[in-house]
Amino acid sequence: MPIETLPTAAHQIAAETWLVPTFAPDPAGGFVGAHSLVIRGAEPVIVDTGCSLVRDDWLAKAFSVVEPDDVRWVFLSHDDHDHVGNVETVLERCPNATLVVNFSIAGRLTGSLDLPLERMRFLDPGQSLQLPDRTLTAVRPPVFDSPATRGLHDSATGLLWAADAFGALVQGEIYDADDVDPALYDQSFAMFNSWNTPWLEWVDVDRFAAHVQTTLDLPLELVASAHGPVHRGPRVADAFRRTLDLAAQPAVPMPGQELLDLVLAAALTETAA
Ligand SMILES: [Fe+2]
Ligand SMILES: [Fe+2]
Repeated sequence: MPIETLPTAAHQIAAETWLVPTFAPDPAGGFVGAHSLVIRGAEPVIVDTGCSLVRDDWLAKAFSVVEPDDVRWVFLSHDDHDHVGNVETVLERCPNATLVVNFSIAGRLTGSLDLPLERMRFLDPGQSLQLPDRTLTAVRPPVFDSPATRGLHDSATGLLWAADAFGALVQGEIYDADDVDPALYDQSFAMFNSWNTPWLEWVDVDRFAAHVQTTLDLPLELVASAHGPVHRGPRVADAFRRTLDLAAQPAVPMPGQELLDLVLAAALTETAA
């Protein structure tokens, strides 16, 4: 089934840094993001590669910011389809790029994607990529849905790419957390982060808080992620606090067959009209 996404362009969120946005309608109302990032700088970096179902649109937006030949690094946060959807095309189009991944990503994608080992570099939490104008450091985000997941901190802008953490629905083409409808944010932040990381229910609160603090201790100016708005200033600490509040709480129940029935009924009505 084709995905109808909002028409958008690359959106600058910090110096030399653009979000490559995708906003898809959520069956429950609102829109869910599936964003990626381009950091231009001295050695341009593509951070995650979006969804394959929006490939042409994604490639047009990403390469509106950077020339394919100039891309030096392609960082994958983890192996989920919404983060690796266009990686093979990106590597074909960007012959000078090295793929920054880790053992887990490489292992989990074996058999699904034909990734070039000779163009890979492994980066684990705490390890950095020293570029001429910035240090990019891999971090384990507060919450994650793959053992492969690494976020990325950029020393030049104080940006954290938090991968799947801090997701929330938005009411339209919305980039900043301050602009999200507060009720939608409150409800969907808890829902999204619980659904994506149901293991939060079983964590020891103090040990989890210590893990989260390792990321919060970074010099953070803004936090961007694939599935939520950009958090800046006091919204950064607020998003971390909301994540901590989910620890050791019952998981938010997921919709069941009744949602599928509703979606299919709506699709049939649309087809019949
Ligand atoms: Fe994921
Ligand atoms: Fe994701």
